[in-house]
Amino acid sequence: MDGNGRWAKARRLPRVAGHRRGVQAAREVVRAAGDLGLEVLTLYAFSSENWRRPAEEISDLMGLLRRFIVDDIDELADAGVRLRVIGDYQAFQPDVVRLIDGAIARTASNGKTTLVIALNYGSHNELARGARLLAERVQRGEMAPSEITAETLSEALYTADLPPVDLLIRTSGERRLSNFLLWQTAYAELLFVDTLWPDFGKVELAAALQDFGRRERRFGGL
Ligand code: IPE
Ligand code: MG
Repeated sequence: MDGNGRWAKARRLPRVAGHRRGVQAAREVVRAAGDLGLEVLTLYAFSSENWRRPAEEISDLMGLLRRFIVDDIDELADAGVRLRVIGDYQAFQPDVVRLIDGAIARTASNGKTTLVIALNYGSHNELARGARLLAERVQRGEMAPSEITAETLSEALYTADLPPVDLLIRTSGERRLSNFLLWQTAYAELLFVDTLWPDFGKVELAAALQDFGRRERRFGGL
């Protein structure tokens, strides 16, 4: 979800106004994902590198996250959305962690759409953490080094029980992955769109899916 700041700047508004509109866009896209029958939608909301931003902006983003959970959890729960979080969100303030844990627990038995929010997420940290978890199991004698395979490493990631990424959309004209789901996007189709995130909605998501539908995927085969 990139381009909130530029959306605000173009309107001579403070960056937080762009983030606020970004939350609205996220809301619309989550709804659209349900309508369009998507099984899993993952939103990259806060990266492990976003701590480099000014304290005020981080605090604005945390405030918006709090508000999103409080305001939207009922609708999400009613719509059959299961909430998941990937990333080290335990590093957030205790009240935010409690809100997130509550929302996850409350929607745990839903099954229509899974909404994954990446919070304090970075692929490198995730992979290092996975390697560490496996190393600890080896050290405890629970598994042999030869059992460290693509499969067991996959299972040691935050995304353990989620399918691999089919389509990755990056908004705002940037053409980078920025440490997002590097392992899980091995065979993902990549789509880079110029639309700034606050302007991304149902129409743009449907267009992205149409584009995806035209791609020929061979997964290394013929
Ligand atoms: C949103 O867009 C990214 C989040 C942290 C949610 P940006 O804040 O990166 O917007 P730009 O890149 O400055 O336009
Ligand atoms: Mg950006």
